Amino acid sequence: MDDHGKLLTPEDFRKAAKRVLERSAYDYFASGADGQKLRKRNRKAWDAIEIRHRVLVDVSDVDTSTEVLGFKLPFPAMIAPMAYQRLARDAGELATVRAAFATHVPMIVSTMATVTLEAIAEATPAPKWFQLYCHRDRGITEDLIRRAEAAGYLALVVTVDAPVLGRRLADERNNFDLPEGMTRANLVRYVGAAPGGGPDEPGTVGGHAGPPLQGSELADLFRTRQDASLTWKDIDWFRSLTKLPIVLKGIVRGDDAKRAADAGCAGVIVSNHGGRQLDASIPSARALPEVVAAVDGHIPVLVDGGIEWGADILRSLALGAKAVLIGRPVLWGLAVAGEAGVRNVLEIYKEDFQRAMQLAGCASIADIDSDLLTIS
Ligand code: FNR
Ligand code: LAC
Repeated sequence: MDDHGKLLTPEDFRKAAKRVLERSAYDYFASGADGQKLRKRNRKAWDAIEIRHRVLVDVSDVDTSTEVLGFKLPFPAMIAPMAYQRLARDAGELATVRAAFATHVPMIVSTMATVTLEAIAEATPAPKWFQLYCHRDRGITEDLIRRAEAAGYLALVVTVDAPVLGRRLADERNNFDLPEGMTRANLVRYVGAAPGGGPDEPGTVGGHAGPPLQGSELADLFRTRQDASLTWKDIDWFRSLTKLPIVLKGIVRGDDAKRAADAGCAGVIVSNHGGRQLDASIPSARALPEVVAAVDGHIPVLVDGGIEWGADILRSLALGAKAVLIGRPVLWGLAVAGEAGVRNVLEIYKEDFQRAMQLAGCASIADIDSDLLTIS
């Protein structure tokens, strides 16, 4: 698809991606959990935040750049960790990381990538963070951390809102699985290529090694391999294992955020996993103020879930976040036009954010504060 220049918004990219993707891949990417209400509530909550724009400010020269944990960002956004990117395009995570490198927008690489973390690291010198899912087998978990360190990843994002996988009904109905030739590349060496497990532990995992799988293999994998017993003690264990800064992803409460800061975490990401876990959970925009207040400037707060417009990034920063993560729209760009599509999507966000700053009367990131918000 060469005319993606005519796609002007993330929503345009979603529609175009829907046309090119296999149904089961589109469903996996797009789905929320259960009744899929939170995806929409995430959006509505951003829309509800009104900006009191300033006028007659010189915004002819706007600086959108910022820093998070010492990482320079051309604008306050990073690429959210997302599994299974080869479902969007054959180059998968390699195309995404090339776009990340070209735009200087850092990528967070998922444990569930379909290209190894080493190959992604070798593809470009772009700074990257690694997202960790903790396996029941702590040897695997430790090895993943060692590999991420060795490959030069600069922070560890521990996702804490997925002790089990949320129920995605479309995936169950589609018997969603990775197609032949695609693997959870980081995990193959531990669990084999077979869904849910592998030949290494017959009878205990690899639940559908015999009869064909009913339902989603990803849910099956979480059930058999991921550690639902993870607690704050394990955060201490992660810290004892690595010097990498640890960022907890999936926090929506002030008390949890404060506990993360007290436990020595370097940051938190306010997130409900794009509405893919607990459908009844609180929208990110509504959770953000409590989290910001609780950490009281001690550690940076990032946020994701339904960030669609530059104005949403402005809203996030006005509420006290340092940056946002962009999720699905990156996959839509990848599906439509590979690396160029992801670049295009990221550029759209950057321009849109710059325009939102100008229209709100903000010449630099420091000008974006709670004074822009309506008093409720
Ligand atoms: C995700 N997300 C996710 N999060 C994570 O910590 N590890 C992962 O492997 C994945 N995988 C994943 C796959 C797909 C297809 C999606 C859509 C999402 C959640 C992701 O990082 C992020 O929290 C949300 O996607 C943000 O919401 P938006 O921007 O998609 O609305
Ligand atoms: C998902 C997991 C892999 O949301 O995080 O599909």
